[in-house]
Amino acid sequence: MKKKEENNNPGIISPLSLDEEDFEKKLRPQRLSEFIGQKQLTENLRVFIESAKLRKKPLDHVLLAGPPGLGKTTLAFIVANELGVNIKATSAPAIEKSGDMASLLTNLEAMDVLFIDEIHRLSPAIEELLYSAMEDGELDIILGQGVGAKSIKLQLAPFTLIGATTRTGLLTSALRDRFGIPLRLDYYEIDDLETIALRTATIIGCSIEEEAAQEIARRSRRTPRIVNRLVKRVLDFAIVHKKDMIDKQIALYALDKLHIDMLGLDDMDRKILSTIIDKYDGGPVGIKTIAISIGEEMTTLEDFYEPYLVQIGMLKRTPRGRVAARLAYEHLGLAYKGIEDIQTLFE
Ligand SMILES: Nc1ncnc2c1ncn2[C@@H]1O[C@H](COP(=O)(O)OP(=O)(O)OP(=O)(O)O)[C@@H](O)[C@H]1O
Ligand SMILES: [Mg+2]
Repeated sequence: MKKKEENNNPGIISPLSLDEEDFEKKLRPQRLSEFIGQKQLTENLRVFIESAKLRKKPLDHVLLAGPPGLGKTTLAFIVANELGVNIKATSAPAIEKSGDMASLLTNLEAMDVLFIDEIHRLSPAIEELLYSAMEDGELDIILGQGVGAKSIKLQLAPFTLIGATTRTGLLTSALRDRFGIPLRLDYYEIDDLETIALRTATIIGCSIEEEAAQEIARRSRRTPRIVNRLVKRVLDFAIVHKKDMIDKQIALYALDKLHIDMLGLDDMDRKILSTIIDKYDGGPVGIKTIAISIGEEMTTLEDFYEPYLVQIGMLKRTPRGRVAARLAYEHLGLAYKGIEDIQTLFE
């Protein structure tokens, strides 16, 4: 246990440790009933879980897809919790050899959940092992090498695989088709994000004005992880400014200092858009070229920045590359000088 931090400004927070590492875990809802938003998805999931429990069978394999920070890992743990079973969590890059996968699978107890994060990053040989495990509950192992090699089949305990991915497009269809319950998480509604901000404030023990929670919600890229992060950052400003709560004024002040604009865009978002506009005449330009221009990893652009910019209509993906939409020019206060009809790029 960490020692609790000294807090010279009692009032705004009860002295709870705000350790970065524990932060996400502490805020993770444990039950489906605590999971805010994504109503349709959670209602269906509740039915599938209930049915599996009544039938005393493992839940079908679940694929959770969607942008970072929307609650995929959270949901995986909730599912195991609701099923009342153990969960073993790993991520695809950590499974290097067939033997690693075999040992994960053979160590599962009946009905357990195996959670594999970033499942689109499994190597082909390891993915192959999963096929028969998922479909027939069997593990094919090759013993020995060359002509003397023998293949044996091991019967596995019935289990549920939960895979999470930010990029369904990178999943092979063979793997995708083996998930009986494919679920896609969408960007959250502002009202739900506000509820999450209020919940987070309560858990970390600070008071927050409803209007402040609303402002944070509006600027959080419609992503719970970012709501939580912003609540924490705004709280820093409130503490230093000796406020006894997060009010709207300090929230606006902090968001301004953090360079997070009205639409929740940060410096990097604006840099992406202005690079496309200034250096590439508004596009079309390839994502790789953009990544090199701004010195950011291509996967970060594709996984995190781009989906939101596309979602709010600032960026268009065309067969010839990325194009800054009229809205992006307006948002940056620039005169439109892009292509008149973006649609022609699709022809
Ligand atoms: N529906 C929700 N209600 C309340 N809090 C949520 C919800 N969804 C996510 N969170 C919070 O957001 C944080 C991030 O969620 P999580 O780690 O599950 O996202 P993820 O989709 O797995 O992201 P990544 O793709 O980066 O792995 C969690 O700490 C959790 O507290
Ligand atoms: Mg995750």
